[in-house]
Amino acid sequence: MTRFQGKTAIVTGGGGGIGSAIVKLLAAEGATVFAADIKKAVLQHDAEGVTNYVCDVTSSDQVTAMVQAVVDAHGHIDMVFNNAGTGSIVEVTETTDEDWDRVLKVNLSAIMYACRAAVPHMRRQGGGAIVNTSSVSGLGGDYGFGSYSASKAAVINYTRTLALDHGRDNIRVNAFCPGFIPQTGLTLSVEGLPVRQQFNDIIPLGRGGTPEEMANVAAFLASDQASYVTGAILVADGGIMAHTGQPNVMAVMRELSARAPSSSAA
Ligand SMILES: NC(=O)c1ccc[n+]([C@@H]2O[C@H](COP(=O)([O-])OP(=O)(O)OC[C@H]3O[C@@H](n4cnc5c(N)ncnc54)[C@H](O)[C@@H]3O)[C@@H](O)[C@H]2O)c1
Repeated sequence: MTRFQGKTAIVTGGGGGIGSAIVKLLAAEGATVFAADIKKAVLQHDAEGVTNYVCDVTSSDQVTAMVQAVVDAHGHIDMVFNNAGTGSIVEVTETTDEDWDRVLKVNLSAIMYACRAAVPHMRRQGGGAIVNTSSVSGLGGDYGFGSYSASKAAVINYTRTLALDHGRDNIRVNAFCPGFIPQTGLTLSVEGLPVRQQFNDIIPLGRGGTPEEMANVAAFLASDQASYVTGAILVADGGIMAHTGQPNVMAVMRELSARAPSSSAA
């Protein structure tokens, strides 16, 4: 497929699990990609058309310079994937100002910096697509995820607002909400712990998702196949959000009826 032939893209967090998969998919389908990450060591892309670009997305100067670098090199910026992310698991009384600000800056402020820099170019060139990585934790609460959930929920409404503000500039702005994607930088620490199996138990599809499955969703939102999609929040979670969180009453009823003495024995 060559959905992205002639298009340029920035993918932040482009050296991480989901970001790397997005970079690879875009490049395989013809895009010129700036894979941006704060960690030089994780930027190992060698596909044709990919530039490994070190950038701290919490620096508005660095983000603006990165967008300008794409425009200087190629004349246009067609897609921005705001995907860099960080987490924190701590309850409110233990939350430090520094940790709260760090999470909000990486997960939320950085998106504003990138959009502020890219939108004027997209407007001038007649359009563009922005895809923000939110999370199921932006739709519901998770234990200890205060700053992460707050930031990811804000990404959702920020996405909607940008979609309104720039629809008439032909700039589409969407977000997607991954569920549990194992073995990325954010989730590696649960490998080998009992909670790893608990994820599989609660996910209706019975497994975590893959970075490639997330890349398919992100690429769809940026592609012309989604030409009438803007302000959308696409949940890609194996069914987690389909569940209220209530216990499996059906399983309990089955167990009770199996235990009950049969009427013929009475
Ligand atoms: N893995 C999951 O289960 C999951 C679930 C929901 C949402 N997400 C979201 O998906 C996105 C990608 O996460 P991932 O799971 O691939 O984790 P990851 O840790 O592998 O990738 C995140 C990348 O962001 C980079 N990054 C962090 N701070 C940065 C900064 N200041 N400047 C530039 N880059 C920075 C990291 O170096 C890393 O490479 C994140 O926004 C995350 O919140 C992940």
